[in-house]
Amino acid sequence: MSAIDYDIRPTTADAEDAPGTGDIENMRPLPRISVHAFCESEQLHQVMDRCANDRRMSKVNLRITGGSTAAAANMFASTPTPNLIILETRANPQNLLAELAPLAAVCDPTTKVVIVGHHNDIGLYRELIRNGISEYIVQPVTMTDIMAAMAAIFVDPEAEPIGRSVAFIGAKGGVGASTIAHNCAFGISNLFSVETILADLDLPYGTANIDFDQDPAQGIAEAVFAPERLDEVFLDRLLTKCSQHLSLLAAPSMLDRAYDFEGQAFQPVLDVLQRSAPVTVLDMPHLWTEWTRSVLSSVDEVVICAAPDLANLRNAKNMLDALRKLRPNDKAPHLILNQVGMPKRPEIGPSEFCEPLETDPIAIIPFDINLFGNAANSGRMISETDPKSPIAETFSQISHIVTGRVALKKAKKGGLLGLLKRK
Ligand SMILES: Nc1ncnc2c1ncn2[C@@H]1O[C@H](COP(=O)(O)OP(=O)(O)OP(=O)(O)O)[C@@H](O)[C@H]1O
Ligand SMILES: [Mg+2]
Repeated sequence: MSAIDYDIRPTTADAEDAPGTGDIENMRPLPRISVHAFCESEQLHQVMDRCANDRRMSKVNLRITGGSTAAAANMFASTPTPNLIILETRANPQNLLAELAPLAAVCDPTTKVVIVGHHNDIGLYRELIRNGISEYIVQPVTMTDIMAAMAAIFVDPEAEPIGRSVAFIGAKGGVGASTIAHNCAFGISNLFSVETILADLDLPYGTANIDFDQDPAQGIAEAVFAPERLDEVFLDRLLTKCSQHLSLLAAPSMLDRAYDFEGQAFQPVLDVLQRSAPVTVLDMPHLWTEWTRSVLSSVDEVVICAAPDLANLRNAKNMLDALRKLRPNDKAPHLILNQVGMPKRPEIGPSEFCEPLETDPIAIIPFDINLFGNAANSGRMISETDPKSPIAETFSQISHIVTGRVALKKAKKGGLLGLLKRK
């Protein structure tokens, strides 16, 4: 097919451009990504082990297993794909794309793939890159090759920012926006094994610390009041671990000072969050100020939570209209109806509520005082206290929708190499 004699590893000129190539001492640490390496050879296994012990990998959730494409396709048929798959294969250039098809069929579109191959073939390299593979490197690979490939995807300043941000805000006070934000942040981190940061932007009254039974000494106040010190290392010190993949940037929830902010005050925090973790969930207070408008304008997804009464309807309508204007080139905010069916409360029915808003709710959550009260009082999430309840399933669905995750069943149907395309 094509010439086999080209050397497709980076040239010296490329190496100077790519951070860390040939010189990982200067490489910035990798962010909180999940990586799964499938090694056919013992040699790659050893290289990956060396990577795992490097300090720049300390935040990376790395799994190394034996096997190749078939093993990967098999595994990800039933579990979500990580941020990056490193896949060693001995397949011939002619067969490689066909061999990848079953994996492509189960691969989330956001997952990056690096192939470690045994054929130095420029035609194959170009074809793989065209099909959305991030990098193809040829054996024998070194630790530097692997680290440089990861850095080019996730650390390079030119690389797409890894973080997706989702803000939850109430159409009125007390409608459950924080409760929903916390359950979804937990759901996203748990369901997809993806590192998630929950930032509580309700500085005076935030409840994320209570809901996760945490008592952190510092958190978001340090970040927002010291933007000149703020980088990934400083952010790390402000985070509190809530569960395996969920960290909290907690509100002080104290009234020892006033919390007035300039319009752009939260932008440095949002920037560093976006560079640090694949998903950030923002718990917004029920406010409409310069700074809340600016945060809501910059996030990837906005979710408006509303209870079914007239004041919520009026406010939700105003918020949707204002946010559609502020974000003309983005998807409209999502709507969640919460606390529906509270005993003895006259309510506006869901279809009547949604008709003037010209949007369908992504979820309708019933009022359930026992379920929410128990979870809140025990400092745990609904999927922990009542994993079988329909409301736990609703939080799982919301977690899929707001992160743009294709449900696994759909991914399998949609299939084939189209899913590997990133462009
Ligand atoms: N579907 C529900 N059924 C019963 N109780 C609920 C439901 N959703 C939330 N709650 C309860 O409502 C109360 C208010 O919730 P939460 O603090 O999440 O609202 P909020 O919109 O963030 O309020 P704030 O305006 O203070 O930020 C909490 O006690 C919570 O447990
Ligand atoms: Mg709240």
